[in-house]
Amino acid sequence: MNSPFTHGLFISFEGIDGAGKSSHIEGLAQAFRRQGRAVTLTREPGGTPLAEKLRALMLHDAMDPLTEALLAFAARRDHLCEVIEPALARGDVVLCDRFTDATFAYQGAGRGFDLQALTVLERMVQTGTAPEPGLLREPHLTLWFDLPAELAAQRLAGARVPDRFEAEPGSFFARVAAGYAARAEAAPRRFARIDSSASREQVWHSIAQLMLERGLLGEAALAQPGTEAA
Ligand code: TMP
Repeated sequence: MNSPFTHGLFISFEGIDGAGKSSHIEGLAQAFRRQGRAVTLTREPGGTPLAEKLRALMLHDAMDPLTEALLAFAARRDHLCEVIEPALARGDVVLCDRFTDATFAYQGAGRGFDLQALTVLERMVQTGTAPEPGLLREPHLTLWFDLPAELAAQRLAGARVPDRFEAEPGSFFARVAAGYAARAEAAPRRFARIDSSASREQVWHSIAQLMLERGLLGEAALAQPGTEAA
């Protein structure tokens, strides 16, 4: 059956490692489904077989910042072509755990890679995938889970064997957090800041409020039991 929703909705989730975004994505997926929307839940780097292979390289193999940035964008191009654009064309809600803001925050602010070069890559990779000629594909909304680097480090401590990014020192994450803040300042309409230092229930409440205010979800879809991420 064709979806009655002709317009797809693309939402990305961002924040430094340990900011707690992942636990809320499933809750939002459930709420959108209750509202009758088809949901594509995906992540970056990754989301396709090829992009997942590139993810494994990025997270575990040593490389210089240019290689890292190119792998992130190569994975993104495949993900856009194979998953994100087809889902938006069907009218799905696409919930994507990280997107290009992560490249600006981690490879740009974190590693010090040239932001102008990232902007060129962003345009190359995110143009020509959408049906509208010349459209730069971007999320319609980005939920930015903002948490001071020290707090995120405390939450992550001992949680699992760290990957190449999680193993970075606090100073790296302070730069990444500043990188996200700069991206949010540059695109205030797309970004919504969520204060992640609050309790999980309070964070969910902020997300629900935001969805109501933007008219993306109704009370009924948000109020039902099980909405709060487990
Ligand atoms: P995750 O643990 O949230 O799935 O993200 C994987 C790691 O990849 C995380 O530490 C951030 C990093 N990353 C980048 O460095 N650049 C990117 O473009 C993306 C999407 C993620």
